[in-house]
Amino acid sequence: MSAESPVIACCPGSFDPVTLGHLDVIERASAIFDQVIVGVGRNTTKNYLFSLDERLDLVRSAIAGLANVAVAPIDGLLVDFCAHQGAKVIVKGLRFASDFDYELPMAQLNTALSGIETVLLPGSRLYGAISSSMLREVASNGADVTSFVTPAVAAAIRVKMEQR
Ligand code: PNS
Repeated sequence: MSAESPVIACCPGSFDPVTLGHLDVIERASAIFDQVIVGVGRNTTKNYLFSLDERLDLVRSAIAGLANVAVAPIDGLLVDFCAHQGAKVIVKGLRFASDFDYELPMAQLNTALSGIETVLLPGSRLYGAISSSMLREVASNGADVTSFVTPAVAAAIRVKMEQR
């Protein structure tokens, strides 16, 4: 990548909460692109366990060791967020075929709206099956999720479950 025009990528998502699978995709994007902005958004079809501020804080602590990665809230359309951040590409992880069915129309819509392209990175085998919703489900039934998330996220999940 040229030093004159750094290529900025956006890794958008709900991150409710951020998992080691998300972090793997973010790390791999950070090795490909000059800068990565993690966009924490609000999917109107979802009920969140963590507030937007909590999700931002958990992502912030998870990416602390990655020098070229930052996090910001998505307020409005993802394509507007990308334009504001100077991001030229959206990067998302693909775990299985159903992810592709979910991502394809969004990628096509975002390209139609703004010309921005989406790059889909296959999930690593190690983290392939992790989803935030599955973690929330098993954690709410008392399971230990420490092997799927960072220690800070595991602690935040424990606190959240104790408050319920
Ligand atoms: O992890 P998710 O739930 O798939 O994240 C989806 C998110 C929040 C990134 C997406 O809903 C989003 O981009 N929302 C912002 C509004 C928008 O641009 N919607 C159209 C996306 S095609």
